[in-house]
Amino acid sequence: MGAIGIFDSGVGGLTVLRSIAERLPGVPMVYLGDTARVPYGAKSRDTVIRYARACAELLLERDISMLVVACNTASAFALDILREELDVPVLGVIEPGARDAVAATRNQCVGVIGTAGTVRSGAYQHIIRQLVPSMHVVAKACPLFVPLAEEGWTEGPVPLAVAGEYLNDFRESGIDTLVLGCTHYPLLRQVIGETMGKDVALVDSADATSRVVAEVVSSMAPSLVSQDADRRLRFLVTDAPEAFAQVGRRFLGHDIGPVEWVDVV
Ligand code: DGL
Repeated sequence: MGAIGIFDSGVGGLTVLRSIAERLPGVPMVYLGDTARVPYGAKSRDTVIRYARACAELLLERDISMLVVACNTASAFALDILREELDVPVLGVIEPGARDAVAATRNQCVGVIGTAGTVRSGAYQHIIRQLVPSMHVVAKACPLFVPLAEEGWTEGPVPLAVAGEYLNDFRESGIDTLVLGCTHYPLLRQVIGETMGKDVALVDSADATSRVVAEVVSSMAPSLVSQDADRRLRFLVTDAPEAFAQVGRRFLGHDIGPVEWVDVV
């Protein structure tokens, strides 16, 4: 019996946990935020792979029956490796988001925004073109969205100005669908939507992923995912549990409760 294990570079993956919890109320989850080493978005592929392996190992020691890589950057660089190396099902956020984008577009022009690492990896672009080879895909890194979301600056002139700087040329590129390819971007959905205009559909990778997780859970033997109410949600971080609880409250939509500090090497 095990919980769903979820990891992210920090607090952002709580958008994925929140969406899973809404679809699967009562299913136990253990969440690891690698707050000592956040952000992953600006780091090299090798470093992100090393961090992702350490996070996965730590969660496997906590008796999980599946692993969700909630971080887009870690999914982009490390998903295939983790799938090869681990004995539990491993799900990432990129393929579900890519699939939803392909389903949403009407003019076959899709935009993707994410961290520098996610965009550089080409992971979204690759999967979207694998699904539909003729698809036109444009991608752009929007790194300032991460601190804005963490600071709670999700509305008003500052995020609107930043969104305008990043996205104005995207508006002219003809895309009709935009993938929010980073854990933090759902918090800025309104500002991003206002900037892109109502004719551009926004695809939330967190939401898309939770749908896939729900499908996988329902196909597993019921005993694999424990329904033990006492162990429902557990939160682990590699640094600063208080700050995680404080910022995380906004991402999760309610109090986080106790946060355990853990060490990873
Ligand atoms: N969680 C990261 C992602 O979704 C964003 C924050 C970071 O750069 O670590 O790519």
